[in-house]
Amino acid sequence: MWSKNVTINNGVLTCSGISATALASEFKTPAFFLDEDDFRTRALHWNSELSKAFGPQAGRVYYAAKAFICVEVARWIEDLGIGIDVCTGGELAVALKGGIKAENIEVHGNNKSVDEIEQAVAAGVGAIVIDSLFEIERVAAAAQSAGKTQRVLLRLTPGIEAHTHESIATAHEDVKFGFSIASGAAWQAIVETKKHASLELRGLHSHIGSQIFQTEPFAIAADRLIELLAKFNSEFGQQLPELDLGGGYGIAYLDNESEIQASDVLGTLAKVVKDSCAKHSLNVPKISIEPGRTIVGPSMFTLYTVGTTKVVTLENASTRNYVSVDGGMSDNLRTALYGAEYTAVLANRESTAKKIATRIVGKHCETGDIIIKDIDFPADVIPGDLLATPATGAYGRSMATNYNHISRPPVVAIKDGKARVILRRESIEDLLRLDI
Ligand code: LLP
Repeated sequence: MWSKNVTINNGVLTCSGISATALASEFKTPAFFLDEDDFRTRALHWNSELSKAFGPQAGRVYYAAKAFICVEVARWIEDLGIGIDVCTGGELAVALKGGIKAENIEVHGNNKSVDEIEQAVAAGVGAIVIDSLFEIERVAAAAQSAGKTQRVLLRLTPGIEAHTHESIATAHEDVKFGFSIASGAAWQAIVETKKHASLELRGLHSHIGSQIFQTEPFAIAADRLIELLAKFNSEFGQQLPELDLGGGYGIAYLDNESEIQASDVLGTLAKVVKDSCAKHSLNVPKISIEPGRTIVGPSMFTLYTVGTTKVVTLENASTRNYVSVDGGMSDNLRTALYGAEYTAVLANRESTAKKIATRIVGKHCETGDIIIKDIDFPADVIPGDLLATPATGAYGRSMATNYNHISRPPVVAIKDGKARVILRRESIEDLLRLDI
């Protein structure tokens, strides 16, 4: 759960040798701390495992920017030589500002605006992943008026019920994303795309959902995409060169969980892809993936300061300690939105006190403002104590809001014993900036 440079000794959490107390006093709380070394290692690991599994047919790792992106992290991505997946004009702007080469950018979205499409075409992005019949026309028109041939992939829905929260499963039939393979919509999209001289169909894409631990659904999706490659081959007498199998690899949030291993899932995928291609007499296409959470999730932790504690008596006469921290659902929406489970540790000192039933809550004006619903936590936690929550890097800061006019926390990168702000805390001036 914790990034590689985090240690907890005698109750004191340190990252790359800097104590939680020192971090809190320099950067204030709440704040996200990003272990740079851990992030880079994870990104490179997925990249090398992709190469190991697919050899010369390894495509690209496209880091999913939606998990977390800022300009500095975009610079790291460029430096690491991997690609990026963006799904809005905003994410595209950050990626370009960070110096990521346009050819290494893939553009997603189920409802890209014409402006966003035109920006992507003008920037010269490596691929636009088309999600609807309307979009085929829009991307073709944008490319034609720019005098370019735009490389595109088609996002397909392989009809899989992935075992994850319903809000983040994306590959069953009843979803807004992609073209269904089973209904024939995918084939229709292929035929429509082929009609446009300004579009170069590079391949097919699927993303089956997020926080998935089984390898099988990834393998089934790949198999279904390859069946369609075979149909394409027999109808058009040529082979599409690329398959992008998306992201969605699960990570550990709790002590008893363990993340999906790149070597396992990519090894299985490689076998399925090779067997399936052999069955259909196809060459193995280039295989790309889009991990987000598994790269940045465990690389970050959040530090909070306790403001109040309150013991309440429940109906069955048992008690619960409510520990209120200085953030909440504005920096971690995942508990409220998906019933996600997190853990936390006291980060500034050792406690030998008994652990009691505790709920860690934020400072927002609603009961659902919960960071951790049920945790056994030391009974002697007091105002001023620091709490650290691991694995908050993915969909934490990126889904942060200004609810109750709270300013969003900073992201502080830590490397080689040095900590520096890479995304600063919002100020009251920032919050007032938009008011007319
Ligand atoms: N590729 C596509 C096309 C995606 O839609 C996503 C995530 C990814 C890649 C990266 O998935 P990852 O490897 O990070 O699981 N806010 C939710 C997650 C939404 C995921 C949306 N798409 C959460 O906090 O769990």
